Amino acid sequence: MNNLNMKIKDLFKTDIIKKKNVFIISDKSQNYNQQQTNDAFSDKWRKYNQEDINQKEKLFKLQKKWYLKLYNFSNEKELQSYLRTKKIILDAGCGLGYKAKWFADLSPNSLVIAMDYSDAIFFAAKEYKKKKNLVFVKNDLADTKIKKNLIDYISCDQVIHHTENPQKTMKEFNRILKTNSELAVYVYAKKSLPRELIDDHFRNKSKLTSKIEMWKFSKQVTELGKRLSELKIDIDVPEISLLGIKAGKMNIQRFIYWNFLKCYWNEELGKQTSLSINYDWYSPSNAFRYHKDEFEKLLVNANFKISKYHSEEACHAGRFLKIQ
Ligand SMILES: C[S@@+](CC[C@H](N)C(=O)[O-])C[C@H]1O[C@@H](n2cnc3c(N)ncnc32)[C@H](O)[C@@H]1O
Repeated sequence: MNNLNMKIKDLFKTDIIKKKNVFIISDKSQNYNQQQTNDAFSDKWRKYNQEDINQKEKLFKLQKKWYLKLYNFSNEKELQSYLRTKKIILDAGCGLGYKAKWFADLSPNSLVIAMDYSDAIFFAAKEYKKKKNLVFVKNDLADTKIKKNLIDYISCDQVIHHTENPQKTMKEFNRILKTNSELAVYVYAKKSLPRELIDDHFRNKSKLTSKIEMWKFSKQVTELGKRLSELKIDIDVPEISLLGIKAGKMNIQRFIYWNFLKCYWNEELGKQTSLSINYDWYSPSNAFRYHKDEFEKLLVNANFKISKYHSEEACHAGRFLKIQ
């Protein structure tokens, strides 16, 4: 066994096996919704991983730019200086692993642990197998099995709302983080009433619907988004407070998107990426949404305090300090 393998096993309070470059702690959830969510992501990432590299690179670039904004780093250099002060970094829910690889590149002396519960972890481990300071773990974030007070930075980007019990996951993050270290976390924001009702409908329906049907449906809403966007029409929306619809001039596609039906379309990212983003929205049965005060409660209950806060239409996010 080489030094890195020994070092990794030392971080966990359980025995772990290694398969295809991945440390496996838990392969499957006993919980129906969590396992359905894992399956939905395995399916999404398997398909998306086969996409044209240029399409993927475009998305990764856009996502990295957004990451800096969400977590209040003024540029990549600032993120780099920040990461270089961290010994162990956890990318909690790494998906295809490109952000974990980014962190590992920016901070070569840190050890980056990339953890995910879906099969995406195998694709990530294959893609980045040459990266010496990056390791891959298949496991549930709600029970990481990492020893307590060990991690210097947790990045949980667009993930915690997919875990079975986000409050439990947040407490687990507190347990494994060093005191006065930061958690970067993002949750979906609650939207207008019609959009929330339709979203809830799909959270239930996706469990009963085959993946083929969900892809078909996602294709249809992607096409709707494209056609609406091509109209290039703005409308002056009146406030409809009881429905949570805000006043203002808006493109018709964005108006329908935010208030009624997620029908994502981004010309620059292209058809396959837009499709995959719509599938990602409708398919996992775990996808909780939060008002700002609900998100704050989640943090306070797990003993975190705001360090940097960022809110936008889609989400609440920021960096939060473990206070004890
Ligand atoms: C929307 S993706 C985000 C991936 C990545 N953080 C990114 O920004 O590209 C959500 C990821 O969370 C993972 N996930 C959901 N629940 C999880 C859990 N309980 N434990 C570990 N990973 C989980 C999914 O498998 C999926 O890869």
